[in-house]
Parts: sequence; structure tokens; C-alpha cells
Amino acid sequence: MKRQQLIALYLIIIAACYICHSEAVAGTCNRWFGPAGTVHCYKSNRYDDYQWAICRTNTYVKTTSKGRHACRDSTRDYCYYQCMIDEFDRANGVVFSQCKCSPTGPPPTVKVPLPAWCYSPDGRNCSWYRKCLNKAYPKCENDKDDYAIKFAEKFCQLYNESYKEFSPEGKKWVDAVRKCLQVKLVPLIDTFRVKTCKDLKSTAFKTHSPCYLKPDRSSLSYCRLSNEDKDTVFWTIKSSILKAFWPTLKGLLDVRKGCSENTKTQEVKAKIQEEVNKITNKNKTNPVNDVIREMNVRIKVWVQNSVSPIQLTMFIRDNDWDNASKRRKRSVPDDREIARSQFAGKIVDALASEQMWKDKGVAWFAYAEKDGNIMSIRLLVADRFKYERRDNSTKHQRMDNSTKHQRMDNSTKHVGMDNSTKHQRMDNSTSPLQQPTNLSEILMQLGKDVLNGTLNLQIDGENVEITKLNGCLDLKCEEHAFNIKSLKFQENNGNPKEACDADNGPDGARQCVKLPGYNDYQWLTCRTNSYIKLKTNGKHYCTDQSRTYCRYQCMLDKYEKSSGDVYSSCLCSGSQKVTYSFAYVVLLAAVSFLLVR
Ligand SMILES: *[C@@H]1O[C@H](CO)[C@@H](O)[C@H](O)[C@H]1NC(C)=O
Ligand SMILES: *[C@@H]1O[C@H](CO)[C@@H](O)[C@H](O)[C@H]1NC(C)=O
Ligand SMILES: *[C@@H]1O[C@H](CO)[C@@H](O)[C@H](O)[C@H]1NC(C)=O
Ligand SMILES: *[C@@H]1O[C@H](CO)[C@@H](O)[C@H](O)[C@H]1NC(C)=O
Ligand SMILES: *[C@@H]1O[C@H](CO)[C@@H](O)[C@H](O)[C@H]1NC(C)=O
Ligand SMILES: *[C@@H]1O[C@H](CO)[C@@H](O)[C@H](O)[C@H]1NC(C)=O
Ligand SMILES: *[C@@H]1O[C@H](CO)[C@@H](O)[C@H](O)[C@H]1NC(C)=O
Ligand SMILES: *[C@@H]1O[C@H](CO)[C@@H](O)[C@H](O)[C@H]1NC(C)=O
Ligand SMILES: *[C@@H]1O[C@H](CO)[C@@H](O)[C@H](O)[C@H]1NC(C)=O
Ligand SMILES: *[C@@H]1O[C@H](CO)[C@@H](O)[C@H](O)[C@H]1NC(C)=O
Ligand SMILES: *[C@@H]1O[C@H](CO)[C@@H](O)[C@H](O)[C@H]1NC(C)=O
Repeated sequence: MKRQQLIALYLIIIAACYICHSEAVAGTCNRWFGPAGTVHCYKSNRYDDYQWAICRTNTYVKTTSKGRHACRDSTRDYCYYQCMIDEFDRANGVVFSQCKCSPTGPPPTVKVPLPAWCYSPDGRNCSWYRKCLNKAYPKCENDKDDYAIKFAEKFCQLYNESYKEFSPEGKKWVDAVRKCLQVKLVPLIDTFRVKTCKDLKSTAFKTHSPCYLKPDRSSLSYCRLSNEDKDTVFWTIKSSILKAFWPTLKGLLDVRKGCSENTKTQEVKAKIQEEVNKITNKNKTNPVNDVIREMNVRIKVWVQNSVSPIQLTMFIRDNDWDNASKRRKRSVPDDREIARSQFAGKIVDALASEQMWKDKGVAWFAYAEKDGNIMSIRLLVADRFKYERRDNSTKHQRMDNSTKHQRMDNSTKHVGMDNSTKHQRMDNSTSPLQQPTNLSEILMQLGKDVLNGTLNLQIDGENVEITKLNGCLDLKCEEHAFNIKSLKFQENNGNPKEACDADNGPDGARQCVKLPGYNDYQWLTCRTNSYIKLKTNGKHYCTDQSRTYCRYQCMLDKYEKSSGDVYSSCLCSGSQKVTYSFAYVVLLAAVSFLLVR
């Protein structure tokens, strides 16, 4: 153990740079002038083979290694830095194929020569992405999935664009991360690197999380930022792309989920309950209006308490998901996850279009969430005004070309939209945001439409239905501010053999049961409490009010009889019979009953 630690220490010190020796050998890395990017094939006795060493600036070496390495001769501006440390942080052992070279082989040749500064950027010049990285990968430039590069570039610009929005800590973090991201991508352009779009994408993607969490030697970390700073980073970057889903940005959320954040979940939950208590039992009208009224109160208190970020979970029919993943070719799970999230993104884009979110100043982001076998859509919303108002002149122009195309792309557009609204949306698309949006109102509208089942979402020509909507109180959405179920999906026919789960139904499941009070077996159908209330105008409901679903007996449904004879149209018999004890039926099965007024 002790010996290992010693070795590590030794390595850290000398890895600091073997290098300066090779100056004599190659003579192509001048201590003052470099040029950066020249390479030399070299064998150290700490490695098993020859590897490339690249001429870098001392600043670059210090930045990329977070201060653990530097030119051995600290007065040098340039020195050779070995590939195995630069890319893999390994100061001895096996030389990987990416770094391997042959001392007798020809020097690497490049099709597109890059200026020397590209090979040793300081991490602050955002034009590096366009002037260096994109030039080295010309074929990947039009790759639509090139999210990570676009993200990194956007991130780099964040430092300047959002200057006023960040706290000093947030600003320091952004600066450190942009440097980290850039220097970690530099090996991609090394002359000996075999350049493929796949490598570009995966390297760019992999770099992100480590850079957010530990961008440099200091204690800066994404997790230590305030919620405000986290939101600013997220939404400012999101504002540069119109599509709901962006894998790299999802990566930022994943990192956030890993932070132990101090949330006000219980506090807000209590506040919501307090407000709800004030309105329940007052002026009951009909069940649907009561549900909407309660939902509105919940949303208002939730949004007012600025839970960060504002997240919702949406459910669609299971078979809507089936079709989405079937259409794509099966490959590695990671790609399938992205495909599902892209589908979720399309749904939310269609939803946003139907609800006119862009015009109303709402920013949104969405991805697919898989919890066991249950798929859902996670949706984040924010006020665009808050994050976009500062760049009302410059950014709109720069982003115009890419966003315009997306807006015109009718494939994801809501088909039911009539011509006049379409034109209106186009006309107003570039007008700057004038005022903040009211997220409570936006979400109340959405909740009402989900409940009423009036959304008409078409994705690739298929109808997609939202069945449920929850507001999230915590990052993982384990606690809900509100729950809404579409009334449309409370009348489906389910599988008669299944039981009736309190939360999951399924709706329409039937069982043949003899209930206390009746003289024979009758059909019980699994229904939601709200459906029963709605259908009977509040006269019937689940015995256990906390249940979403309960069994609704045929005699009550058809004849409003809560005891006595079972009529022939409700009667069931034979192998379908299920026998429950009295206690089970009353306490768990929770049949509905007549409300005694
Ligand atoms: C970035 O580097 C390029 C090339 O060296 C230079 O022309 C440009 O001015 C630099 N930009 C900034 C903001 O430093
Ligand atoms: C961005 O910020 C840096 C450091 O504050 C500054 O040197 C640079 O000029 C700024 N660039 C732009 C385009 O504002
Ligand atoms: C609710 O009841 C209060 C008095 O209890 C009454 O003043 C108010 O107008 C009622 N509101 C509605 C919407 O019926
Ligand atoms: C799935 O897609 C096929 C063909 O695209 C279509 O016929 C079918 O109705 C779809 N099913 C659902 C549930 O949307
Ligand atoms: C938007 O730009 C205009 C000038 O083009 C400026 O007067 C206005 O203050 C800007 N708005 C914001 C919120 O920065
Ligand atoms: C936007 O597109 C126009 C022509 O369609 C082109 O002239 C212009 O250079 C593009 N701008 C950017 C920033 O790509
Ligand atoms: C958009 O719709 C027009 C006709 O309405 C059609 O010609 C065009 O191909 C469509 N574009 C896409 C990307 O589907
Ligand atoms: C919408 O536009 C199409 C073709 O542009 C036209 O055939 C149709 O009548 C229009 N519908 C309405 C409601 O204006
Ligand atoms: C969009 O523009 C139309 C006229 O071009 C205007 O009547 C409408 O109010 C605008 N909508 C918004 C949200 O600015
Ligand atoms: C947002 O809308 C709700 C409901 O209409 C309203 O009660 C609330 O005061 C509004 N909030 C703001 C900030 O305007
Ligand atoms: C639900 O939709 C129907 C018809 O689309 C409409 O008449 C009704 O007012 C809506 N209910 C609510 C609460 O929006």
C-alpha cells in the first residue's frame, strides 16, 4: 500500500514532464515558439512502447491536468507532452493504440493544416470550436446529432453572454468548465488521431460530466452552485436550440440529480396542502370543476414557491411508446434511450405548439424516463424572458438559420393547427420577448386540457394521447404537487382477468364478486374515483378516497342499488367467481357507495 502511494507521488512529479529532454532529440518544439501541435515519436522506459508526444504550451499542460503536470523546466513556454498522459492520464505501462507510433514510420500527414494555436488553446477562445475542431472534422460539420460540440461552444459563450446573471461563484465555475471542456477535446485534432465522427461525438459527450463536477483544482463543482446559477446555465444553453430534447443538456440534468440538493419539498408540500384545505368542502359544484379548482390552487402555490426546476411528468398510452421504438433500428441501449427521448421531445414540441408556448414566452425541455417498465415523459418549463432577454439583438441573428429550419419543418408540427394560426406564429417568431410569462397560467391550461382530453397531438402521423400529468416537487419527481388524469382514459376496456390496483387500475378490469349486502355475485369494474364521481355527479365514490382506482359494482352503476337483489344484467357466475372476505372488500377493494348527504 505504502509503496503504491510512493509510486503515485513519484509519477505525479516526474510525469510533470519527461519531456523537456526530447528537445535535443527532435528540436521541433522550441521553448519560446513551439509551434504547438508538432509531434514526435518517443519511447520512455516507463511505458512498454513508442508513443507520440505533442508540443504544447505550459499553460495548456497545467490546465488539462488540473495543475498536476507542467513543463519540467518551468521557464519554458512550450514542451512536449506525452499522449498517454494527455489523453488517458497514465504515466506508465501499456501504450494504447491511439497513442502508439513507430520510430521508423512516416510522420502523420493532415489534409487540413490547422494553425498552431489550435493545438494549445487556453480554453477561453470560443472560436476554437469553429476554427479548429470543425475544420479537423469537416465531414461531421453537418451532422445533425452534433449536439456535444454545439453545446460546448454554447457553454464557452455562456461566460460572456450571461455575465450579469451569474453569481461570482457561478461565473468562476463556468469559466473553469469551458476551459476544461476545450482542453479535453484538443487531442481530437492531433495530427496522428484517426478522425471519425463517431469518435468526435463520443469523446465530446464523455468529457462533459467530469468537467462539470471537477473542472479544475479548486473546489468548484456544479453541485455547489445555487439553484439560480444552475437554472441560468441550463436555460441559457437551451435557448440556443428549439427542439425539446438535447442529449448533452440531459447530461447536465443527470449530474444535477446526482448532487444532494437542499430542496424545500416538504415545506412546499405543506403549503400546498394548507391552501387546498382552505377551498375543500366549500362551494362544491361538480366533480370536474372541483378537480380543476384544486389543481389550480396546487399549481399556483407550487409555482409561487419557485421550486427549481419546474418539472412535470407526463404519461402517454403504453402502445404509443411501442410504436416509437419499433420504428427505429435496434442498437446499443444508449441509442435506444436517446431515440425514446427524441420521441418524447417531439411529443412535447407538438404540445408546445398546440399551447402556443413559444409566443407565450415559455421555454421547455423534455426527455423520456424509464422507471422499471413504466415509461414517462419528463418535462421542464421556464420563463424565456428571464433567460433570453439579455441577448435580444445579437443572439437572435446568429441562431436564426438553425432555428428557422426547425420551425418550418412541418413533420413535428401539430397537424390540427389551422392556417391562420400557423401564419401568425411565423410572423411573430422573431419578435423579442417583451414581458415575463405566467407559468401558473400556462400549467393550469395544460392541466385542464390533459384532464379534459382536448389535446390533439400528432406525431409522425400518429395520434398520441396524454393520460396523466404530475407536477414534481423534487428533482426525482417522487413527490407531487398535483396529479391529473385524463377523463378520456377512464373508460377504457381492460383485461377482465386482472385485479384492480389502487394506483394503476387497470381501468375497465372486471371481476365477479359477491359483495356484502347483495344476494348474489355481480360484475365489478375497475374505475377511477374521478370517473365514478363524474358519472354520478358526485353521488358515488371510492370508499377509500385515497385510491385512484376502485371497483364499481354493476348494480350501483346501472340501478343505483347498494344492496339487495342482483339483476340478471349484472349477474355473473361460474368460474369467474372470486370470493373475498368482508373486510377485504370493504377496506381494500373499496367499492363505491351512495353518498349520504
Ligand atoms: C480567438 O483566436 C483567434 C485566432 O487566434 C483570434 O483571431 C481571435 O481574436 C480570438 N478571439 C478572442 C475572443 O480572443
Ligand atoms: C468575453 O470575456 C472575456 C473575459 O472577460 C473578454 O476578454 C472578451 O473580450 C469577451 N468577449 C466578448 C466577445 O465579449
Ligand atoms: C362560495 O360561497 C361563498 C359563501 O360561502 C359565496 O360568497 C361565494 O360567492 C361562493 N362562490 C361560488 C363560486 O359559488
Ligand atoms: C403503429 O404504427 C402502425 C404503422 O405505422 C400503425 O398502423 C398503427 O396504428 C400504430 N399503432 C399505434 C398504437 O399507434
Ligand atoms: C433589447 O435591445 C434594445 C435595443 O435593441 C434595448 O434598448 C433593450 O434595452 C434591450 N432589452 C433588454 C431587456 O435587454
Ligand atoms: C444564414 O443563412 C444565410 C442564407 O440563407 C447566409 O447568407 C448566412 O451566412 C447564414 N448565417 C449564418 C450565421 O450561418
Ligand atoms: C411540409 O409540407 C409541405 C406541403 O404542405 C410539403 O411539400 C413539404 O415536403 C413538407 N415538409 C416536410 C419536411 O415534411
Ligand atoms: C389552408 O391552406 C390550404 C392550402 O394552403 C387550403 O387548401 C386550405 O383551404 C386552407 N384552410 C383554411 C382553413 O384556410
Ligand atoms: C402576432 O402578430 C399578430 C399580427 O402579425 C398580432 O395580431 C398578434 O397579437 C401577435 N401575437 C403575439 C403573441 O405577439
Ligand atoms: C399568474 O396567474 C395566476 C392565475 O391567473 C394569478 O393568480 C397570479 O397572480 C399570476 N401571477 C403573476 C406573477 O402575474
Ligand atoms: C371539455 O371539453 C368540452 C368539449 O371539448 C367542453 O365543452 C368543456 O367545457 C371542457 N371542459 C373544461 C373543463 O374545459
